[in-house]
Amino acid sequence: MAAKLINLVWGFSFFVDPFLSQSQELYFNGFQHSSNNISLNGAAEIQSNGILRLTNETTGLLGHAFYLSPIRLKNSTTGKSLSFSTNFAFAIVPDFWKRGGHGFAFAMAPSKELPGALPCQYLGLLNASDNENFTDHVFAVEFDTFRDLEFDDINDNHVGIDLNSLISNASVPAGYFTAANSTLHNLSLQSGKTILAWVDYDSVNNKLNVTISPSSTKPRKSTLSFNVNLSPYLDEFMYVGFSASTGWLASSHYLMGWSFKVGDEALSLDLSSLPSLRLPKKTNLSLILGLSMAATFVAIFVVSIPAYAIWKWKNRDVIEPWELDIGPQRFPYGELVKATTGFRDEDLLGFGGSGRVYKGFLPKSNTPVAIKRISHESKQGLREFMSEIASIGRLRHRNLVQLLGWSRRQDDLLLVYDFMPNGSLDKYLFGEPKKMNLSWYRRFNIIKGVASGLLYLHEEWEQTVIHRDIKAGNVLLDADFNCRLGDFGLSKLLKHGSNLSTTRVVGTMGYLAPELTKTGKPTTCADVFAFGALLLEVACGRRPIEPKAMPEDMILVDLVWDRWREGAILDVMDPKLMGEYDEMAAVVVLKLGLMCSVDAPLARPTMRQVVRYLEGEMDLPEISHTTGQIQCEERQRRW
Ligand SMILES: *[C@@H]1O[C@H](CO)[C@@H](O)[C@H](O)[C@H]1NC(C)=O
Ligand SMILES: *[C@@H]1O[C@H](CO)[C@@H](O)[C@H](O)[C@H]1NC(C)=O
Ligand SMILES: *[C@@H]1O[C@H](CO)[C@@H](O)[C@H](O)[C@H]1NC(C)=O
Ligand SMILES: *[C@@H]1O[C@H](CO)[C@@H](O)[C@H](O)[C@H]1NC(C)=O
Ligand SMILES: *[C@@H]1O[C@H](CO)[C@@H](O)[C@H](O)[C@H]1NC(C)=O
Ligand SMILES: *[C@@H]1O[C@H](CO)[C@@H](O)[C@H](O)[C@H]1NC(C)=O
Ligand SMILES: *[C@@H]1O[C@H](CO)[C@@H](O)[C@H](O)[C@H]1NC(C)=O
Ligand SMILES: *[C@@H]1O[C@H](CO)[C@@H](O)[C@H](O)[C@H]1NC(C)=O
Ligand SMILES: *[C@@H]1O[C@H](CO)[C@@H](O)[C@H](O)[C@H]1NC(C)=O
Repeated sequence: MAAKLINLVWGFSFFVDPFLSQSQELYFNGFQHSSNNISLNGAAEIQSNGILRLTNETTGLLGHAFYLSPIRLKNSTTGKSLSFSTNFAFAIVPDFWKRGGHGFAFAMAPSKELPGALPCQYLGLLNASDNENFTDHVFAVEFDTFRDLEFDDINDNHVGIDLNSLISNASVPAGYFTAANSTLHNLSLQSGKTILAWVDYDSVNNKLNVTISPSSTKPRKSTLSFNVNLSPYLDEFMYVGFSASTGWLASSHYLMGWSFKVGDEALSLDLSSLPSLRLPKKTNLSLILGLSMAATFVAIFVVSIPAYAIWKWKNRDVIEPWELDIGPQRFPYGELVKATTGFRDEDLLGFGGSGRVYKGFLPKSNTPVAIKRISHESKQGLREFMSEIASIGRLRHRNLVQLLGWSRRQDDLLLVYDFMPNGSLDKYLFGEPKKMNLSWYRRFNIIKGVASGLLYLHEEWEQTVIHRDIKAGNVLLDADFNCRLGDFGLSKLLKHGSNLSTTRVVGTMGYLAPELTKTGKPTTCADVFAFGALLLEVACGRRPIEPKAMPEDMILVDLVWDRWREGAILDVMDPKLMGEYDEMAAVVVLKLGLMCSVDAPLARPTMRQVVRYLEGEMDLPEISHTTGQIQCEERQRRW
């Protein structure tokens, strides 16, 4: 005990006997004396004040900090994972302009460098090819500050449990309970304040609890409790530590202390004795901007209250538009439950950005349909939500997935769409297992279809609809491989349930226009940018960003610029096409992809121009070689 106390004063104590699993314990009260014991990798560093910084506010970073030696996590005779307990103090400080991302994770991994792991949404843990692979043996508890639709993230401030995949097996909004019967108090992970987190695993009852709190006392009730036997996910010996990353959006991720123990409860940390974070004062410019933004919000708010009151008054006792015979039909809820045989997992087609999608058959007509199930959080937005659905239901175009109807029971909202037997485009371009290869003829038709659907949304309907999440995963294919764009309008609709976060960025990395990360305001130009990414993706058969693929990040648009400058633009074409494509059309698609991907929003073509170029009604303008040069340099500066 005396030895332990002395070590505590030094900020470290470790009794290790790799063959006696009961006595593995780590304790860092600040990290000032631990540079020999912690392996740092990427951007991670121990600062002179004893705080471990996993990343700074530079874009595209990752940082790892793992305990130097692997720790025994399984009983060698039984192969059963052992109980463990850990607590740590962290703070996430978002960059003012880059708005904060992507978060960090407590992790157990087979190596302490995690070679091949990517920053951005992958949190420095996995990459696009090994995500969801059962052989990874990566266990993580994520503290995620970006909503990545690709991984079905619930919001941009959540705690999740990740087993070999960044699609969390369980996740909840970040918060804590003050008493067993209290409601969840929201806690912003990226407030810059120090937060304590506990992760406790009980291998007898197979229970994993995650708890967070802004104070040193551990709340009685945990934030997230998950029943899981970790034995199949863990190796006998694993490295234990932390991983954080930044993308286009960036935060500094800090750790002030860490305690870990196998087989028993870890020593607790005391916030008051940990090194404290002194944040640099924000510049006056930021302050002025912050204040003027706040003032604008107040002004908008003041103006909108009377407007809202008038709107309310006008709308009293009016028959709601969706109840009229026009627009989509309301289905009885029970009928849709029957259609999907009770939302069984076997009928799950996929996870959209806004909910789960099931396959079903309408009972009367036996027509196959896709049913999207959305859990709507706030009652007050529901009416608006419904009237927007009525208007989306009136959107009709051969390249849009048709909304057939809807249904609701309490907060459970169901949307019924045409069923698309051939699934989504991304499965054909990159899917595992490989689906059939798409011929150039089909690819070009799909591109023209998406362009035409998008033109309709932007310009041809009675009001402008911004899609906001154009990507291969939202391009669906019918039986004849005609494309239909899905998921439009909904991300806008979903906002009605949430609070004032209208400027939060929602979307998928690689398709997000650069101006979006600054203004957060969706525009048709941002849709055109995403469409440009899609064009290049379809022609080249590669994702818009393949981080650390080359050994640098592979940014598809830069690669195409390079080849074009070298006069060998067709070198980038998808090898799976085996040279069988129309060269003229391929050049149009690639050049158009470049034009849509320029950084200046107004320099991008409109969808009407895009359609004309694709149909051959108009010749592409010359694009100058220097445009590409400037583009690349700017992008490199940003990364
Ligand atoms: C851990 O750090 C302490 C304090 O600096 C040092 O005495 C000890 O040797 C280190 N242990 C290892 C395994 O490096
Ligand atoms: C952030 O960390 C990276 C990697 O360690 C480093 O190259 C960069 O200069 C740092 N940036 C700042 C602003 O400290
Ligand atoms: C491993 O399991 C066996 C059988 O249950 C038990 O006797 C032994 O004490 C365990 N060893 C450790 C290190 O937990
Ligand atoms: C993904 O990570 C694995 C290791 O986990 C590595 O072997 C593989 O090369 C990486 N893939 C890419 C594309 O970087
Ligand atoms: C999982 O990873 C292993 C080894 O890296 C590889 O052999 C296997 O093909 C991968 N499985 C899938 C489904 O990607
Ligand atoms: C976690 O999710 C993956 C799919 O993402 C699934 O294969 C696995 O069985 C889940 N594990 C648990 C314990 O729920
Ligand atoms: C919670 O429980 C405590 C004791 O069981 C009780 O005193 C308190 O009133 C309860 N609070 C609420 C909000 O129900
Ligand atoms: C907590 O956040 C959720 C959304 O993440 C919101 O619905 C809820 O109203 C918030 N609760 C409080 C008490 O602010
Ligand atoms: C996890 O939480 C549950 C209920 O909140 C509790 O009964 C259990 O003892 C906790 N387990 C651990 C290991 O903390």
